[in-house]
Amino acid sequence: MTAAQTINARLRKLPIWPFYVIGLLPPFWYLYLGFTGGLGVEPIKALEHRLGLLGLQMLAATLMVTPIQRFTGVSLLRFRRMLGLIAFYYICMHLLAWLVLDVQRPAAILADIVKRPYVTIGMASFLMLAPLAITSTDGSIRRMGAMAWRRLHRLVYPAVILGAAHFILVRKGVQIEPLIYLGLFVLLLGVRTLPRTGRRRLAA
Ligand code: HEM
Repeated sequence: MTAAQTINARLRKLPIWPFYVIGLLPPFWYLYLGFTGGLGVEPIKALEHRLGLLGLQMLAATLMVTPIQRFTGVSLLRFRRMLGLIAFYYICMHLLAWLVLDVQRPAAILADIVKRPYVTIGMASFLMLAPLAITSTDGSIRRMGAMAWRRLHRLVYPAVILGAAHFILVRKGVQIEPLIYLGLFVLLLGVRTLPRTGRRRLAA
């Protein structure tokens, strides 16, 4: 038995639901920190930033599942839906923090979407991710057919590129952190387009 097969056998025994429970907690922890002075002098901004960043990081983790399997043989496929849904949950909380705690007034919300390019781009990314979350159930895959479902879920790539562009614009000026995320997403997209060898095709 190879190391990857041993790891896969252990991973198969792990239940998924505890990861959902753990994944639900960070926004509540950040809210608690916000109310108790743990998020600094601008708690609403800090909350928005932490949730946005966490969403982007979880999206990166979701997109790494396939390359990890391809290059190491370790299969995290069982966890991919959970990772993607938790990423979307953090992004919804990020959006909610902006809507409810930050801008608040409907007119200001619309004005921001139209006038601020980083908000427009963030919203476009969100609108691409929403149908992926909605169609993440086994029933949707059956109804749509595997091919159409897979085609729709390729939207995750433009969505994360837009997410990274949103991050670049939010930070203003040239900053290394958002560029690293953009580079990572371009790399993950590039890996997808690499031709597969026969052995790897069998492993995928
Ligand atoms: C749904 C529409 C979205 C809105 C309205 C929105 C709004 C915002 C706002 C207001 C900020 C803080 C800007 C400031 O400092 O003044 C922010 C930061 C951020 N957002 Fe979004 N966002 C959206 C979608 C997204 C999406 C889809 C992602 C990820 C895929 C994302 C990731 C981030 C990140 C990483 C940051 C910066 C965090 C940091 O600076 O540490 N946002 N967003």
